[in-house]
Amino acid sequence: MVKILCGIFGCISEDVLEKILDGLKRLEYRGYDSVGIAIIDNNKIIIRKDKGKISEFIKNLDLNNIKSNIGIGHTRWATHGAPSKENAHPHMDCSGRIAIVHNGVLENFLQIREELIKKGHRFSSKTDSEVIAHLIEDFINNGLSLKEAIRNTFKILKGSIACAIISTIEPDKIICYRRESPLVIGISSKGVFCASDIPALLPYTRNIAIIPDDKIVILEKNKVQAEDINGEICKLEYNEVTWNLEQAEKSGYPHFMIKEIFEQPRAISDTLKIPLIYIDRAIEYLENKNKRIYLTGSGTSYHACLFGSYLASHLLSMDIRPVISSEFTEILSSLENSTVIAISQSGETADTLNAIRYAKSKGAKIIGITNTLGSSITNLSDVYICTQSGPEIGVAATKTFLTQLISITLLFLRYGLKKGKISEVDYSKLMSEINRIPKIIEEILKKSDIIKNIALKYSSKQNAYFLARGINLVTALEGALKLKEISYIHAEGYPAGESKHGPIALIEPGFLCIFIAPKDNTREKIIGNIMEMKARGAEIFSIITEGDEEIKEISDEYFEVPHIHYILYPILCTVPLQLFAYYVAVFRGLDPDKPRNLAKSVTVP
Ligand code: AGP
Repeated sequence: MVKILCGIFGCISEDVLEKILDGLKRLEYRGYDSVGIAIIDNNKIIIRKDKGKISEFIKNLDLNNIKSNIGIGHTRWATHGAPSKENAHPHMDCSGRIAIVHNGVLENFLQIREELIKKGHRFSSKTDSEVIAHLIEDFINNGLSLKEAIRNTFKILKGSIACAIISTIEPDKIICYRRESPLVIGISSKGVFCASDIPALLPYTRNIAIIPDDKIVILEKNKVQAEDINGEICKLEYNEVTWNLEQAEKSGYPHFMIKEIFEQPRAISDTLKIPLIYIDRAIEYLENKNKRIYLTGSGTSYHACLFGSYLASHLLSMDIRPVISSEFTEILSSLENSTVIAISQSGETADTLNAIRYAKSKGAKIIGITNTLGSSITNLSDVYICTQSGPEIGVAATKTFLTQLISITLLFLRYGLKKGKISEVDYSKLMSEINRIPKIIEEILKKSDIIKNIALKYSSKQNAYFLARGINLVTALEGALKLKEISYIHAEGYPAGESKHGPIALIEPGFLCIFIAPKDNTREKIIGNIMEMKARGAEIFSIITEGDEEIKEISDEYFEVPHIHYILYPILCTVPLQLFAYYVAVFRGLDPDKPRNLAKSVTVP
């Protein structure tokens, strides 16, 4: 699984500072909000870090006369704690003997941080990562060696981790550890290197090893040694990388969009690890009696709002209204005693920010759901939840959409549990269904060639309807938006029941109708809608639950997804439609990453 959140680069070599800065620049494409480095000079750790871009950081750097041959660097994409100098990596322990950089999400850091504070540790940041340096220090204070302390630390810490550590206790080593987040190493006559992605290593070596999960790797001058978490020596497998720089930035995928589609299992796993305290803080704003709750967002994020609205009705028996952000001020007048859940991956969409400002001016409270910590939405919201997708570079929202759906599900499920609207048993059942999603999506992605062939067959169509009923209307709207924005095919998402009130007039032989028809309580009616379209010569492509022979029979093409609780089908069924849009665009000779007339973040109203 590929993970992009932050960039790590470390090396033991000559001209370490230049190499670290160059390595971090080569990781810039991943997106970041702050930069930092730590080097060892005269047995002292020197740290420089700041919010902002690498170019600015270099301009202000005051380390001209330092000649170090060991160091680590980091570009941070904020997940816990806003972008700031204090929250930038590297982080140190209290004694100044240990510096760490980390990429990933720590699940149990809050509890460990509290225990360490009780023992006298002083924390300088609001990050989850800083706990790593303090925990290592704590073990060392209790008599363990550096390596033993590091092993014990990673045995205790839960979550995704790629970490590089330097210490004055063993100043000739960089110690790396990896679990779920990527970390690669390379060795050549130019030095020994570690980085979170291959492009950073290409100027020095093409002989690269991926650190296996749950392994510690110790880098020394001209030497690399891998151990398991108990200290047993193990082997690393080196491969010769033949990618050019551009291919390497996309981890070998031809476009960012497809890379990001394939990152979804990881993005969802990390979003499922959001500490409950963040969800509970948001719930406080939902709890007042007689409160009205609204959801607002634009484009794909509006589809996440619509999902939230269906979810609230089905799970909580609550009517929560979704409102497109650009219409918010036109449609809502009295917002006193209200809470608005505003969803935006970028956190900078002008329409959504305007809706928030308006709602606030009328006395509403705001819960933000965003992928960008430190964005305007996090500043304007009373409380926010940060989805853990990592930066999304393709203009079409993919992984950020699925993590929005996951976040809103976590929020409403937990709210339902607290309010007694959902029983403990049902909550646990649903949570175990949700926890299956990353694995199921991995399985769906393994079948991407099926979608590729269907996309080839339909790539010259000029029109498509995406039809569904109930909560899968969300999927239909999102599938149509994806196809329209990157393939320029005219595509419309419609409630299937509404199609006979006008849209059916366009149906003639060969018109493409895509039905989202998993097994839920709308299935019988959907079959009726398929037959109506088929009778008029439409070509039918259906997304169905595995083994649904009846819908297979009446469809020209189908794609099967595994069975899941019906409210979660939009999360699964969106994936084949993202792939469909992507492959259609590629077959039409278009660049899916840069659709015409669109920007990643729409900052004008
Ligand atoms: C989605 O593929 C589009 N690029 C677009 O609709 C987008 O979702 C919309 O502009 C909202 O962006 P936001 O989530 O950053 O607010």
